[in-house]
Amino acid sequence: MKALIKELVEAFGPSGYEEQVAELIRAKAQAVADDIRTDNLGNLIVLKKGTGGGKRVMISAHMDEIGLIVSYIDKKGFARFNPVGGLPISTMTGARVRFANGTVGVIYNEKDGWAGPGSLADCYIDTGATCPEDSPVQIGDVACINRPMEELGPRLTSKAMDDRIGCAVALQALLELPASPNDVYFVFSVQEEVGCRGAMVAAFGIEPDVAVAVDVTSWGDTPQAKPMAIELGKGPAIKVKDGGMLAHSGVKRWMVASAEAAGVPYQLEVLIGGTTDAYTIQTARAGVPTGCLSVPTRYVHSPSEVVDYNDVLNATRLMVQMLANPISW
Ligand code: CO
Ligand code: ZN
Repeated sequence: MKALIKELVEAFGPSGYEEQVAELIRAKAQAVADDIRTDNLGNLIVLKKGTGGGKRVMISAHMDEIGLIVSYIDKKGFARFNPVGGLPISTMTGARVRFANGTVGVIYNEKDGWAGPGSLADCYIDTGATCPEDSPVQIGDVACINRPMEELGPRLTSKAMDDRIGCAVALQALLELPASPNDVYFVFSVQEEVGCRGAMVAAFGIEPDVAVAVDVTSWGDTPQAKPMAIELGKGPAIKVKDGGMLAHSGVKRWMVASAEAAGVPYQLEVLIGGTTDAYTIQTARAGVPTGCLSVPTRYVHSPSEVVDYNDVLNATRLMVQMLANPISW
């Protein structure tokens, strides 16, 4: 599964520009899917049909990652930019970014230098241009962080773990899923980082009986971390609450029972800030019982997010257990 994760996290896919990620997933899902389609916003929807009598389930993992967009190019060719999603400026000085056309740029904060955190207004992207005319990027061009995945002992680090790690879990669960009574719609969603927009329309179209988002969550196990009962390596997290939603209590019970049945370690998650696709799925149409399976992740939204590989494998095992059996709570 590491090779799959590497391919997914290294792909280019800021919000609104998820096609490269979608193509990767489509190619791997094709062999086992009963139907694959792309909807009007770009969500990739992969159906694995059940044997009948089960539930219509929606799984949602977002393909988009934090990005930045060129807003202005000055006389000397330096590109000013705005964030696409929640970009922590303090992690940007010295970062390299890559545009869809392959252009690489370096970010610097000319006011604060290395002292950071600074403000976005003082940052620019140096693409090697010397004037607007020779700039390899134009207004509106979008970039993402440029970093390869690397292994840190039992851990993996990369840009875009949020949420390609969720895409990897969902895709691997699809590939491993045995025959089940449930019709499972695996949605690889777009535009989560700008307001969970893709999942919102996908849920409206699919009309699921139950839904589960799979995404990253925060951590509480570094020296000065804010108190949070989530540690890397202690298993995937079953969400109870985050900044945008309360998990449906029945869905939470079903997830906990599935973890216990599969012998998968799990942690219960209360996240203070932030939310996931589950937030907009839950309120689609007349409402959908919705939960969220989380992969504990350090340094979320930085160029070097860190997950524990065992947590990823256990999240996949838990998802297979949840989907392979009749669903009740
Ligand atoms: Co995010
Ligand atoms: Zn996310």
